[in-house]
Amino acid sequence: MKYGHFDDEAREYVITEPQTPRPWINYIGRQDYVGMISNTGGGYSFYQDPRYRRLIRYRYNNAPRNVGGRGLYVRDAESGEYFSPTFQPAREPLDDYEARHGLGYTTIRGEKDDVAGEVTYFVPPGEDLEAWRVTVENNSDESRNLQLFSLVEFCLWDAVDDSSNYQRNYNTGEVEVEDSVIYQKTEYRERRNHFAYFACSADIDGFDTQRDAFVGQYNGFDEPAVLEDGEATDSIAHGWSPIGSHQVDVELEPGESEEVVFLLGYHENPQDDKWAEPGVINKEYVEETIEEYLDPAALDESFTELEEFWADQLSALQVETPDPETDRMVNTWNPYQNTVTMNLARSASLYETGLTRGIGFRDSLQDQLAVLHQFPDRARKRILNLAKIQLKDGGAYHQYTPLTGEGNADIGGGFNDDPMWLVMSTAAYVKETGDTSILAEEVVYENEPGTEEPLAEHLQRAVEYVRERRGPHDLPLIGHADWNDCLNLNCFSENPDESFQTAEHDVEEERAESVFIGGQFVYAVEELAELADQTDLLPESAEEYQRYADEMADAVADAGWDGAWFRRAYDHFEDPIGSSENDEGQIFVESNGMCGMAGIGREDGKVQDAMDSVRERLATEHGIVLHQPAFTEYDERYGEITSYPPGYKENGSVFCHTNPWIMITEAKLGNGERAFDYYKRICPAAREDISDVHTTEPYVYAQTIAGPDAPTTGEAKNSWLTGTAAWNYVAITQYILGVRPDHDGLVVDPSIPAEWDEFSVHREFRGATYEITVENPDGVESGVDRVEIDGDTIDSQTIPDLGDGEVHDVRVVMG
Ligand code: BGC
Ligand code: NOJ
Repeated sequence: MKYGHFDDEAREYVITEPQTPRPWINYIGRQDYVGMISNTGGGYSFYQDPRYRRLIRYRYNNAPRNVGGRGLYVRDAESGEYFSPTFQPAREPLDDYEARHGLGYTTIRGEKDDVAGEVTYFVPPGEDLEAWRVTVENNSDESRNLQLFSLVEFCLWDAVDDSSNYQRNYNTGEVEVEDSVIYQKTEYRERRNHFAYFACSADIDGFDTQRDAFVGQYNGFDEPAVLEDGEATDSIAHGWSPIGSHQVDVELEPGESEEVVFLLGYHENPQDDKWAEPGVINKEYVEETIEEYLDPAALDESFTELEEFWADQLSALQVETPDPETDRMVNTWNPYQNTVTMNLARSASLYETGLTRGIGFRDSLQDQLAVLHQFPDRARKRILNLAKIQLKDGGAYHQYTPLTGEGNADIGGGFNDDPMWLVMSTAAYVKETGDTSILAEEVVYENEPGTEEPLAEHLQRAVEYVRERRGPHDLPLIGHADWNDCLNLNCFSENPDESFQTAEHDVEEERAESVFIGGQFVYAVEELAELADQTDLLPESAEEYQRYADEMADAVADAGWDGAWFRRAYDHFEDPIGSSENDEGQIFVESNGMCGMAGIGREDGKVQDAMDSVRERLATEHGIVLHQPAFTEYDERYGEITSYPPGYKENGSVFCHTNPWIMITEAKLGNGERAFDYYKRICPAAREDISDVHTTEPYVYAQTIAGPDAPTTGEAKNSWLTGTAAWNYVAITQYILGVRPDHDGLVVDPSIPAEWDEFSVHREFRGATYEITVENPDGVESGVDRVEIDGDTIDSQTIPDLGDGEVHDVRVVMG
């Protein structure tokens, strides 16, 4: 069952039924001011930091879900009937409803009894505010006396305090109202010198700022007292729960409509002007901005700017394939999600509260992989910022705090896969840009001034970190965990409430080993060997790096091989995990994907065998599950992975992040059918028809899909902020369609379904544009017979780096 459809032309997802199985959201704002808008107008906003600068309150686990926060109501003053054009919060059934999530904006329109309300939400580029452009229309044949009510429920800035410290925060709320502007200035006395405003373009007929006055003591947001009574109370909040609500009376003749603009904005005083007068805000700072953006002409202009921004962002890579679902993901939605994920890491969504997690070292480095062609400069900066929290021993703080850039000492390091991602992302950055100068950038360790060394040395320490930490089988020690945060083989704890992140264990005693990191080391260090061929900035030679990689590959091919697939790990007692010797968890996807991508034992058929085993044992119609059989009971030798019920999260769900590793491996083997088949199984657009089963947005990836062991097989959770987005994009664009950057040019090496007879890729690369057409006259899955550039045949599958600012026609004939 579907709840809408894609509008490919407009690059929008159009939702036609408000009661989607979950709130289906969109993001507005991509710099300092960020908001989320659901298909019923819910969600929340923050400035820079979703914990400390939260503008809108949000109750994640609420019933009914997704109410409060933002609201709009249209009321007929004569009949007293009212509705929300966004469906919520009034939840009055609508005669007509449509929500359009576009790139950086959302438009929702609802009609009831011949009155329509339409609202577009977006953040004008460069501004710290969200605009709501609301239009009320009278589509009936009589004149109507209507009232429009706005609503914002303010968060008292620190979202943790706001939802826990009521003895304090029931007293702190303060607001001011001047003309049509409501100022929220809670805590503008001591700890904060910033405030929010909620402005309206119309002369208002009333307002409310105290939630209880607006809602009524015992009503909900669906039947607020003010809407029942038809009149705002002009309440001023003293403590309790400050809100912003405007009343605007709108008299409309038949066929007439009126636009009203609302602005919710944030302002922070300059450093040298802290509380000129405690509790008295200086409105002059924002008056100009408010005036400017209440004007629809200015909004038109910024909306155009927003559209141009996205058109430009997406223009670097566009494709046309025989599969429309692939096209809509690759051309629009996947890069859109990649950008949001790159911006926000894992901080704020409807599943991530922005309270607990910072910018993850592993997570953000993988996010870079998909945006390098879109904004190489920002990616470069992010890679260097992440390198700053590398530890002197070559490991890394697992996360950093976005406001300070400091490594998070509570979590610390010890996730032994972390340093390898730095190597992989740096190598990918150089392949995209050709810019080896990043290796010479001086970067501190542990954020400590005076410890600067070139990034190249950081990579060297990363390599040494893994080489020096090997266990009884010469495989890398796993530490707290590798990619799979929940496979905790060194964390024995008496206390069932301790999480893997805090459980005490003696680092000296760590013995558990990871085959996954073994594969990752081979992959990453071979990249380093290739990089060493390009530049002499690295401390060791290509041969030396290759020797390290070969040495590790031997250990993996030996102790890491189970006979028909790669094992996953060895536990503290040297027993294998992910082996036919185990009762549960006999085969895992991660090590097979990573060792497969690294090509370990490919020449003697290991990679193909591993892929066959994955297909036989792990592939389901909803994607490839993490492992089989799932763990049926908690086992402290394995840790948190066994704490989940079978089929969920790390215990045997389809953890979508890992599926592309299998797609890439199959593609590298030339198995185009299989690679693409896996791509389609988890592709959100291809699951649109089963939206009632999948439940999350059909235009973005979710982190997990419940596996066959779960009672809710096929149900997705945790959409938007997941490394799934980046890796799927890499798999489809670079390995299935097969156009991938390499040091000396763009490689064209497709692995596609045999029935595809043609596809094309528009690719901007190091300053030149390549219009690549791939023909498949013999119906093969892989293999390239001929490459022509501007009519001339070349003797290679690599389009050389022409870098001449020109457009080049590339014809590729498979066979
Ligand atoms: C989740 C993991 C996640 C980790 C992050 C765990 O509870 O299962 O998926 O990586 O938390 O802190
Ligand atoms: C989500 C985390 O953000 C990521 O770092 C980790 O690799 C996966 N969960 C798997 O545990």
